[in-house]
Order: sequence, then C-alpha cells, then structure tokens
Amino acid sequence: MSLHVIVLAAGQGKRMMSDLPKVAHMAAGRPLIAWVLETVSSVDPETTVVVVGHGADEVERVLPDHVRSAVQEEQLGTGHATRVGMAAIGDIDPDDTVMVLYGDLPLLTPGLVTDLAQRGQGIAARLVVAEFEDATGYGRVIQDGGGLVTAIVEERDTTDEQRAIRDINAGVYSFRAGDLIDALGRISSDNAQGEYYLTDVIGILAGRGERIEPVRAIPEEVVGINSQDQLAEARRLLQARTNQRLMESGVWMLDPERTYVDDTVVVEPGARIYPGVHLEGTTTVGAGARVGPDVFVVDSSIGAGTTVWYAVLRGAVVGEDCEVGPYASLRPGSVLERGAKVGTFVETKNMTLGEQAKAPHLSYLGDASVGARSNIGAGTITCNYDGFEKHYTEIGEDVFVGSDTMLVAPLKIGDGAITGAGSVITEDVAEGALAIERTEQQEIPGYARRRAERQADKKSEG
Ligand code: UD1
Ligand code: CA
Repeated sequence: MSLHVIVLAAGQGKRMMSDLPKVAHMAAGRPLIAWVLETVSSVDPETTVVVVGHGADEVERVLPDHVRSAVQEEQLGTGHATRVGMAAIGDIDPDDTVMVLYGDLPLLTPGLVTDLAQRGQGIAARLVVAEFEDATGYGRVIQDGGGLVTAIVEERDTTDEQRAIRDINAGVYSFRAGDLIDALGRISSDNAQGEYYLTDVIGILAGRGERIEPVRAIPEEVVGINSQDQLAEARRLLQARTNQRLMESGVWMLDPERTYVDDTVVVEPGARIYPGVHLEGTTTVGAGARVGPDVFVVDSSIGAGTTVWYAVLRGAVVGEDCEVGPYASLRPGSVLERGAKVGTFVETKNMTLGEQAKAPHLSYLGDASVGARSNIGAGTITCNYDGFEKHYTEIGEDVFVGSDTMLVAPLKIGDGAITGAGSVITEDVAEGALAIERTEQQEIPGYARRRAERQADKKSEG
C-alpha cells in the first residue's frame, strides 16, 4: 500500500490583495507552498501532486523538482480540484492512502502529517480537526457520540445550531483511495457557493456507514493564510520555530522575537545574534561570530569569530576574525580575508581585502584588490568609473594609502608603497615608493592680523 499526496493550490487568495498567487508568498525564507511540501516530504509519499490554477506559472516556479503539478483550469471547488489531482496520479490501488491538504497551511508539522498518514484498517478517512475560539469562516465538523465524524458543513450552509460548533475542518485529510474516488463521483455543486466541495465526501462516506476519524491538532498548526495579517502571524510563528531550533543547537540570541533568520540560513553553534538582525537566502554564520545589532545579510557568509554590526551585506564573503561596521555596506563580490576590517561609512563592491588589511573609515572600494596588511586611509576612493566603463585598482601588500586619496583606475600600487594624504593618484606607483600629488604649502606670516585690521578700517569708514 502506497501513500500519495495532493496539495490544493489553484485558488487566487483574493483576500491577500496581491497580484502574487497566495501560496507563492514568502514567509521566513520559503514560499508558503514550499513549507507545506517540506512537511509533506517527512512522510515520504510515492507521489506528490500540486493542483495549480491561478498564477500557475508563478506557483510552478517555486515547486521542487520531484513534485508534479496538475492544472485546474477553472476553480470549481476543492472537490473538483481533488479530482484533477487524482487524474494526475493515474492508476491507483483502492487500498492506497491519498492525503489531501490545502496549500495555505505553512504551519503544519511533520508529527501531525505522520499521524494522519497512519490510516488504520477499515478506516475510510481521517481528517484534522481543531477547536477554534472563533470558528468564523471555517467548515464545522459534526461528530457523533462516539467521537467519529459524520459530516462537515461549510459555514454558509450551517444551521444556527451548527454554527455554534467550534471544531473546525483544517483542510487536511487522508482517504482510502477507493472510497475517495467513489465519493468524488457523487458530490454535487448544490450548495450556497455552487462549488464542488471536497468536504461533502466526508458526509457521503459517513452516510454509508464508513468510519471517519478526527485527528486533533492545536489551532496554531492549522491556521490557514488568507490575508496579509495572517501571513505576518504565520511568519512570526515559523520564525519562532527556526529560532528555537537554532538556540537548541547552541546559537545565542539576545532577543529571539527581534531576530529574523530564514529557514535556509546556516548559523553555527556559538554564534551570537543581537536584535534587529535579518539573515536571508544562502547566508552562513560561523561559530563565535557576533552579528548585530541591526544587520541585514543576504546570500553572504560571515566567518567564525567575526563581528558585524549596523551593516548591510549582500553577496559578500567575510572570512574569520574580521570586523565589519558600524555603518558599512558590503555589496556583491566583496571578499574579506582573515582578520580584515571594514569600518564606519565604508562601501565595498567587487573587491578583495587581503588578510589583516583595513579600511577603517569613510571609503569607497569598488573593483579593487587590496593586499595583506595594507591600510586604507579615511576618505579614500577608488575612482573606478570614468562615465563609460569600470576600471580596476590593484593595491599590493603592506601599502599605506594616505587619507583622502583618490585612486583613479586603472591603477596599480606596488607592495609597501605609500600615498600622501589628499593625493589624486592617476599613475601606477612602484613598490616601496611614495606617491604624492599636491601643491606645496605656502605660508604668509602675519596675515590674520592684517586681515582683521582691514575689516576694522572698513567698519569705521562705513
Ligand atoms: C476550506 C474548507 C473548509 C475548511 C477551510 C480550512 C471546503 C469546501 N471547505 O474552505 O471546510 O474549514 O478550507 O481553511 O473545502 N482550491 C483549489 N481549487 C478550487 C478551490 C480551492 O485548488 O477550485 C484550493 C485553494 O487554493 C486553497 C484550498 O483549496 O488552497 C482551500 O480553498 P479555499 O477557497 O480557501 O477554501 P475555504 O473556503 O477556506
Ligand atoms: Ca481557506
């Protein structure tokens, strides 16, 4: 007996007020549908089919390779969507289990899905039920005295008495395949919304005496995402899980509620994360690194023992024992080798700073390489762009670039060379040389006193 999974994701998600299909919205580093599929993969199904419709291309784009998609051209209801999914699975043993779940449930846990997949002998269906404080908008689950499910009634089709029921249908089911196929053939669209409801399958099966079991879940696991505020809440809960996992592995966090780490990010034990930190994409943080407060990092690596604070890193590779910030911006292609430092108000791009090299203040370093132990003085700028093309600056090892040096690329500065503060360097500088480019300082003795006297004379004349 095999397990097959159908995820329904053809709906538009009107209440999101967004052009993006609902399940393609991101939460804590993954699209909603990817969270669902990740959880589903914990039960290792033989087939996984995602039913797509609205924004099919955008949803398909975020699906993992092993997942099939089936297009529901017209959204005629969850029952109809399930039929589309069944058709995509094709031949199926009647005793196989088919799990059907809605794509907007990112908080489902592997434990719950595993429980649901254990459909015992003689059970036609199991479905996830949760008791909600406020059940508005959900289908109500009707149960008999023995705790078995007899029907699901959609809110718009409820009687007053049924509306008071707080046990809601979460939208996660497992069926005996034969029973599902049979009942799907019998549902009609004769209801308040004129749709083919998957929920009617439950009533049909119960009506002919099949056993249908509820599987209890806590509300938090089965919150469906229908609006931006629910998306924000789901993001908060997913983030809390990620942070919990990281802290259990030995990551230190001063304030987990203000720490935003994508599920795709790797943070090694012993790293210290301060509030206001966003770690996104393929970012990695090494052991003993100290990140934050207030750091935004995407697709970058931060080496062990490195400190980064009040900074933005995008596509940067920062080695071990480096220092970044406060107020630094590392743009794509920035590489800091061990012990390098990028300090206050420094911007870098496509640039390598060698071991122990430093740019401590107020600089722009773009399209450049800086050799080991070189020091970049405050106010230094690589003038890499002549208005037409980008040019490269190559700075050797142990170079001392004086404050406020303009390095007009293309340019090479040899090992151990020095540039005088305030110079505009346009020619290559030889190894060990001093390059200085300024007019000589003049000194006019007594000038200040004479100037003051002139001013006084003017006043008395006026
Ligand atoms: C559904 C359930 C309701 C349950 C609630 C839980 C039905 C009839 N009702 O209501 O009992 O309490 O979910 O959140 O199933 N979809 C398609 N094709 C369609 C229609 C829907 O793929 O033609 C997908 C949607 O993309 C969505 C899911 O099915 O992922 C649920 O659809 P939605 O319209 O949100 O159902 P609800 O009215 O919320
Ligand atoms: Ca819904």
